Amino acid sequence: MTAHDYGANRSSVRVSPAQHPARTLVRRGLLVAAATVAAGALLLTALGTQAGAAGTSLKTLAEAKGVYFGTALTQSNLSNSTLTAVASSQFDMVTPGNEMKWDTTEPSNGTYNFAPGDAIVSYAQANGMRVRGHNLVWHSQLPSWVSSLPTAQVQAAMESHITTEATHYKGKVYSWDVVNEPFNDDGTLRQDAFYAAMGSGYIADALRTAHVADPNAKLYLNDYNIEGENAKSDAMYSLVASLRSQGVPIDGVGLESHFILGQVPSTMKANMQRFTALGVNVAVTELDDRILLPATAANLAQQATDYATVINDCLGVSGCVGVSQWGVGDADSWIPGFFSGYGAATMYDSNYQPKPAYNAAVTALGGAGSTSSPSASASASASPTSSPTGAAGSCRVADVVNAWNTGLTENITITNTGTSTVNGWSLGFTLASGQTVTSAWNTTISPSTGTVKATSLSYNGTLAPGAATTIGFQATHAGNTAAPASFTLNGSACSVG
Ligand code: XIL
Repeated sequence: MTAHDYGANRSSVRVSPAQHPARTLVRRGLLVAAATVAAGALLLTALGTQAGAAGTSLKTLAEAKGVYFGTALTQSNLSNSTLTAVASSQFDMVTPGNEMKWDTTEPSNGTYNFAPGDAIVSYAQANGMRVRGHNLVWHSQLPSWVSSLPTAQVQAAMESHITTEATHYKGKVYSWDVVNEPFNDDGTLRQDAFYAAMGSGYIADALRTAHVADPNAKLYLNDYNIEGENAKSDAMYSLVASLRSQGVPIDGVGLESHFILGQVPSTMKANMQRFTALGVNVAVTELDDRILLPATAANLAQQATDYATVINDCLGVSGCVGVSQWGVGDADSWIPGFFSGYGAATMYDSNYQPKPAYNAAVTALGGAGSTSSPSASASASASPTSSPTGAAGSCRVADVVNAWNTGLTENITITNTGTSTVNGWSLGFTLASGQTVTSAWNTTISPSTGTVKATSLSYNGTLAPGAATTIGFQATHAGNTAAPASFTLNGSACSVG
């Protein structure tokens, strides 16, 4: 078992979801949501407004649908004010990235350290966010003293750990991932220290112990590669059915959802429905969608589709309580460190600018998408490296449009066909009527409608003779998906084609 199994595409064993009567589960807290929308609108920071216009934040839209939208945060994230401005304006649920795991909370037998987890809880409380406790029992990030114990002592150590941690956070967490990642991909239980000591019964014991410590916390089993119907999700389904029939306290199943671009399982919604038919909730707990770098415009458009699919799947299942992304932005994601060559897995780029996936998420949640252009940002990287020069009548532009019912992307390649180097450029063009830019890559675009300018960034402003660079943007449209008819580079007309 290696980290590289997360989100691995594997052949699925298709199982018909259990048929069940339509559930009448009422979505939670609409009145609370309305109050939060009002308060949240007042609290939006300049950055939050930029990331999504007031009223279109992920959390306000999610709450209006009766679900939450969360993120993982680590303690070091809390000192990044750019990050926390996005976190507090967009998300209403926090999962500590590492701070509640066993290696942090009980690094040696009987010695507890809750300060890092407490810092996350304090941040969440100060910003009106709830907390998913993550996690109590896991084979990974497990201090060696546990796996070195004689098997006869493991059960007592596990129960003490659960009781102490869940009691410490009693009343402060919405849910606990009580057992994290119990299964191998073939559906057998992982042969970890807990299984070795207690067999499969450790899972029921862990859930019962957590329930005694914090009877109000929702108790989850959480795993990866259980998003679609396959041998592993079948095993989780059988386990949950068995636990329910024995009266073991279990409230939900967490689908981690560490996806590879373009590989969201087509059976995800049906899979979630078969779990909710057992009487448990489901949640998307650690969503990311990794791209083989460098990410192209087409990759980012596919990622937007993937995010929309996952969110729509959750919204389509009445027992799906929310979606959490694993980290706020690409700069915070665990992906580059664990999957060589991959990255760009979240909705925000490394400057906390929203990517196409963000706008797709807003749209999936029923919002109109951001109307502000990333060019509203005072980002240092948005400035040309020097004053624009050259390129008089010496450019060619190729523009590829990909449109769907309400949106489009354009991928624009600019080639310097002249004989002198371009040092910083501004590409002028007029958007078709009804088109509004919602995000851009490798450029900033301003304004977001009408006649606009796309400006070079620090890394693509220099174009030697013959050199080309590709920029792109996503826009909403009202039926007219035409590409701009003409382009200018630093004020001079370019050939098109
Ligand atoms: C990851 C963290 O993001 C990393 O910082 C850490 O080094 C390893 O764990 N499944 C889980 C999460 O349940 O706890 C993992 O988090 C990602 C995979």
